[in-house]
Amino acid sequence: MRERVVIKWGGGLITDKSSLCTPDLEILEQLAQTVSDCIQHDLDVVLVHGAGSFGHLRSKYWRLNEGFLPHARFDKDEKCMNQREAVNTVRQEMLELNAHVCRALEQKNLTPVIHPPHLWAQNTGPVFSGNLHRFHEQSEGQVHVTFGDVVDVEGEPQFGILSGDDLVVRLAIELPAVKRLVFAIKGVDGLLRVPPEQASEDDLIEIWTPEIEFKGVHESSIDVTGGIGLKASRGSLVASHGIEVMMVNGGKMERVLNAMLGNPVRGTLISDKQ
Ligand code: IPE
Repeated sequence: MRERVVIKWGGGLITDKSSLCTPDLEILEQLAQTVSDCIQHDLDVVLVHGAGSFGHLRSKYWRLNEGFLPHARFDKDEKCMNQREAVNTVRQEMLELNAHVCRALEQKNLTPVIHPPHLWAQNTGPVFSGNLHRFHEQSEGQVHVTFGDVVDVEGEPQFGILSGDDLVVRLAIELPAVKRLVFAIKGVDGLLRVPPEQASEDDLIEIWTPEIEFKGVHESSIDVTGGIGLKASRGSLVASHGIEVMMVNGGKMERVLNAMLGNPVRGTLISDKQ
């Protein structure tokens, strides 16, 4: 079996996060090229992408991350009357973003195999349920693609947000032949010791373990999932299973590719121990 890499493209990287449902097609084209290059180097790719402006804004407004809220009062938006309709709309909008991702891959002659989580996964967090068998077979040129989504949740909440950062945990740990996990993130080189706007070249944490403090922006006014902190903690969980985990600046394609290939690169290596 060929070896594989799991990569997460942050939603903020592939969309304009402040404006509803706007993909960044240029970045998608460049990222798709890294996937193609990786496969040329005999490494298969399992791709997970985030939501950015296709998921967070509407999910935040309708508080979908909190589950069904029968007593909460919401004003309708331009597409939805209630939370249930918002669940369906966000699912549709994620499929729309996914179509942009897949088109970028197809333009590089790759064959995406799409796995929308609301069709096969339930519950949220890194121990979500759902059979990963669908990701096992992978012929050359195929790319398994999945993404953060609104999924059904057992019990009272009824639904919730399953982040791509949770999907990568089970994909990296449970799928056969996975060598490493890469997070391609927007605007920063990795985890930083100081807030990004104050950071100089020297403030990058090159090897991070969970007791090291870092400063990241978590736009809680926009995000319904955990921002960079979630990636760090999920990354160290994966690293504890002996899988290499790297976080790199997703705007620098040579870094993204080298991280996927396991070559030394500027970024943060996520570890689970001191
Ligand atoms: C969020 O997924 C999914 C929805 C809001 C529907 P992620 O947590 O993977 O998304 P990003 O990377 O933060 O945008």
